[in-house]
Amino acid sequence: MAGIYLHIPFCKTRCIYCDFYSGTNESQKNAFLEALCREAEIRKAEVTEPVQTIYFGGGTPSRLDRKHFEQIFEILFGCFEVNPAAEITVEANPDDLTDEYISMLAQLPVNRISIGIQSFNNDELKFLSRRHSAEQAAESVKRCQQQGFANISIDLMYGLPGQTMKIWENNLKQAIGLNIEHISAYHLIYEERTRIYSLLKAGKIKPVDEDASTAMFALLIDMLISQGFIHYEISAFGKEGYFSQHNSSYWKGVKYLGLGPSAHSYDGDNRTRNIASLDRYIKGVSAGSPERDTEHLSLIEKYNELLSQD
Ligand SMILES: C[S@@+](CC[C@H](N)C(=O)[O-])C[C@H]1O[C@@H](n2cnc3c(N)ncnc32)[C@H](O)[C@@H]1O
Ligand code: SF4
Repeated sequence: MAGIYLHIPFCKTRCIYCDFYSGTNESQKNAFLEALCREAEIRKAEVTEPVQTIYFGGGTPSRLDRKHFEQIFEILFGCFEVNPAAEITVEANPDDLTDEYISMLAQLPVNRISIGIQSFNNDELKFLSRRHSAEQAAESVKRCQQQGFANISIDLMYGLPGQTMKIWENNLKQAIGLNIEHISAYHLIYEERTRIYSLLKAGKIKPVDEDASTAMFALLIDMLISQGFIHYEISAFGKEGYFSQHNSSYWKGVKYLGLGPSAHSYDGDNRTRNIASLDRYIKGVSAGSPERDTEHLSLIEKYNELLSQD
C-alpha cells in the first residue's frame, strides 16, 4: 500500500499565519503542471505497491482547473496502480467552491474534500486574512453535500489571539451543525517568517495563555466526542469509517511519494523533501530530477517519529 501527495504551490492571497510553501503569482501554472507530470513519470519506479490514497494539498489545489486535474489524473493512472477504492482528497478554499467548480470536482475521481474554514467568526476570518466569510464557508459545505460529496472534512484553528471560549464554542457548534464526516482542528502555531509572528514580536497581539489553550482543547474533544466523532489523532476527529486514510498513512509508516515543490516522500527508510522553490523545482525536473534533501531514518528515529506524530 502506498500514498501519493501532490503539492499545489499557488494561493490567491496569503494568510497571515501560514508558512506552507506557495506563491500568489499563477503565471507559471502551466509550467508547474508540466513539471509535476514529468516528475511523476521520472519517479514512478519508486512506487512498487498499489496506491491507496492520493492527496492534493497546498497551497490551494482549488486554484486548479478541470484541464489541470485531467492532465494529472491521466498521468497518475498511467504511471501507478491506483486501487479503484482509493481515497482521493482535494484541499479546497471556500471561496473557490462555486456550484460549477464542485460539479467539475464531482465528475473527477475525487471522493473527499477538505475545506479550510478556520473559523465561523467573521472578525477572526478577517484578522487571519481569509478571503471568505463564515456564511460563505457554511454555504460551500452545503453545496458540496448537495452535489453528492459524502466524505467532507473541514479545518478549524483555535488558540487565536483574543479568542474567547465562547467564540471557540460557537465555532465548534457551527461546525457540528454542518453534519460533516471529519474535522481537523489545529492550535495556532506562530511560525517564523509569517505576518502573525511579526505582529507577536512587535507586541501588537497577545497569545492565549496556556490554561486557555488547554481548556479549548478539552472543549474540542468533549463537544466532538459527544456528537459521535472519534478522536483518532491529536488534531483529527472522524465519524466511524471516515478517518483520513492519507493522514494515518504517515504515522503507520506507509510509503508515500510526494510530488511538487516542498513535497515530502518516504520510502520506508529515507525521508526526502523536494526543494521549496517553484523556479528551482521546474529547472530540476527539466534537467532530469527535482532537487531534494534526504534524511536517513534509523530504527530509533522511526520509532520516535511514530511516537511524535500528530
Ligand atoms: C495546507 S493548509 C491550507 C489549505 C487551504 N489552502 C486552505 O487555506 O484552506 C492546511 C491547514 O493547516 C492549518 N494551518 C496552516 N498554518 C497553520 C498555523 N500556523 N497554525 C495552525 N494551523 C495552521 C489550517 O487549518 C489550514 O487549513
Ligand atoms: S492557509 Fe491555505 S490559502 Fe492561506 S496561505 Fe496557507 S495554503 Fe494559502
